[in-house]
Amino acid sequence: MVSDEKAARGIDQAVFGQLPDGRQVDVYRFTNANGIEMRVINYGGIILSLKTPDAQGEFDDIVMGFDSLDDYLSDEYRQANPYFGALIGRYGNRIAGGRFSLDGETHSLATNDGDNHLHGGRQGFDRVLWQAEPFENDEGAGLVLRYTSEDGEEGYPGRLETEVTYTLTDADELVVDYRATTDKATPVNLTQHSYFNLEGEGRGSILDHHLTINADAFTPVDDTLIPTGEIRPVEGTPFDFTQPTPIGERIEQDNEQLMFGKGYDHNFVLAEQAASSSEPVLAARVWEPDSGRLLEIATTEPGIQFYSGNFLAGDLTGKRGQAYEHRSGFALETQHYPDSPNQADFPSTILEAGETYRSRTIYRFSAQESAGS
Ligand code: GLA
Repeated sequence: MVSDEKAARGIDQAVFGQLPDGRQVDVYRFTNANGIEMRVINYGGIILSLKTPDAQGEFDDIVMGFDSLDDYLSDEYRQANPYFGALIGRYGNRIAGGRFSLDGETHSLATNDGDNHLHGGRQGFDRVLWQAEPFENDEGAGLVLRYTSEDGEEGYPGRLETEVTYTLTDADELVVDYRATTDKATPVNLTQHSYFNLEGEGRGSILDHHLTINADAFTPVDDTLIPTGEIRPVEGTPFDFTQPTPIGERIEQDNEQLMFGKGYDHNFVLAEQAASSSEPVLAARVWEPDSGRLLEIATTEPGIQFYSGNFLAGDLTGKRGQAYEHRSGFALETQHYPDSPNQADFPSTILEAGETYRSRTIYRFSAQESAGS
């Protein structure tokens, strides 16, 4: 791309592959007016790639993923279960013992993380084929994804109609809008599971990235990563990211919570949001010193899961043919708190029949030579 020429905004579509049952998976490519390019598939709503400029104007792909459908369907990938770039539902993160009660009835969910239910179960929204509809408007271009989860799917009550819209704007943002309705009360906690490396995916560790999280507290977990129910202040702990701090600075400290998570794998309680707000508020900011890339995340959600890629083990090979090593990508998943259906004091995740679930997260991409604030 010629850097001093405005790129044409555009969308194109191609066949990506076929699922084992013969259904076709498509890939959509969106380019904004400044040359930022994102590719998405309708299987899992997976973001395959996202190319943004560094402080010198050089573009690179900053999310982990693969170039072929087979890589997402392989046994190896499904066992490692990293959820690269996927939409997560019905419930982001864990539900203890795969069980909750609602209106006097106990529901048993699929368990896929020891005894716990994780990220929607065995066949979560990351592994279903969504109906896709590309669009272009004044703000940018994007994709509407729709999926109906039947009553009883993975053990959840109610038929849930879900719609997720990705918009890549000319203001260099990716806006993700979530919407859902149900015919029976059910827990809903949708999120996006992209792994970022702002130096470029497959270009090594993320421990040098400077992270700020707008959170004065987090939800400590037990050794199976289920919240204990406590809301603990971050002050004086390795979980204090209220000032920009390299991710690696305290990750090896002798700390029970870091030990349980094998690093960071925790929900942060966003300071300015006691419960969902209707306008997105800045939740996190990540700056990478070598490239100067800056990622800012704003959300209407009350929490954000910071996961430092602790389960990556170098056994998956990414788009550049490089092994995805331990802590070579991080995820920041905007969400309600894990296990809320079993925690009366956490903001509720129950969607009632007749109500509409709404959530919005904005990822803003820029670059600057120095850390700034
Ligand atoms: C979430 C979880 C982690 C891990 C990853 C996927 O972030 O909190 O424990 O399961 O997804 O590997």
